[in-house]
Amino acid sequence: MELYEAINRRRTIRDFEDRIIDMDIVKKILSAGLKAPTNNHLREWEFVIVNDKKERSKVLNLKDMTNPDECDKMLDGFGMTDTDQRGMYHIAMPKQFSMLYNSGCLILPFFKMREPLLKPTSLSSLNEFASIWLCIENILLAAAAEGIFGVTRIPMTEELEHIKKTVLHPDDYAMPCYIALGYPSNNAKIPVQKVINVEDRMHFNQW
Ligand SMILES: Cc1cc2nc3c(=O)[nH]c(=O)nc-3n(C[C@H](O)[C@H](O)[C@H](O)COP(=O)(O)O)c2cc1C
Repeated sequence: MELYEAINRRRTIRDFEDRIIDMDIVKKILSAGLKAPTNNHLREWEFVIVNDKKERSKVLNLKDMTNPDECDKMLDGFGMTDTDQRGMYHIAMPKQFSMLYNSGCLILPFFKMREPLLKPTSLSSLNEFASIWLCIENILLAAAAEGIFGVTRIPMTEELEHIKKTVLHPDDYAMPCYIALGYPSNNAKIPVQKVINVEDRMHFNQW
């Protein structure tokens, strides 16, 4: 698939067919991730793949939010008014656990941390965090090129503590998100995507 086609086809998918992704394809997708730019030249990224359902149950310490009223209350609390944005959350919140559990490949990406992630002292303190997100975008684009789609989820603090205990990763590595990949199910719900006219976001010389 041509690059721009993969960029345009990539969408967040949270409903998957019950189909494992072939490990050779996973390797190809992760290799694309490992080609991303990196702040210190070292690409200190590691990936824990959790495909056994029993192991997934052990690693995943979260629940789906299935009550729409509870979801609305949360969105009101955020002061969220955009209809498309609320629509996305209504699709996403009931699937935060199931999208990870049912995916065709669950990847936990890790990056080597040089400074405490939540106590940055300068922009460059965040370089390792910024770099792994480039790696993640490469992964999502390479997956789209293979007809595979997915979703990232930002873990809550207690999820990270649980992952540390179950996955046993080194102290100086951190997980920025979960990556769930798979083949979309026929009834996969896809929120309306905000379409931005590029010219509306371009400024010349001054804002
Ligand atoms: C940094 C980041 C964090 C995200 N966190 C979550 C998340 O916690 N749960 C989830 O379901 N989707 C999450 N997403 C997916 C977004 O909801 C999705 O990318 C967005 O709605 C745009 O839709 P699209 O990817 O189909 O264009 C995240 C995406 C990014 C880039």
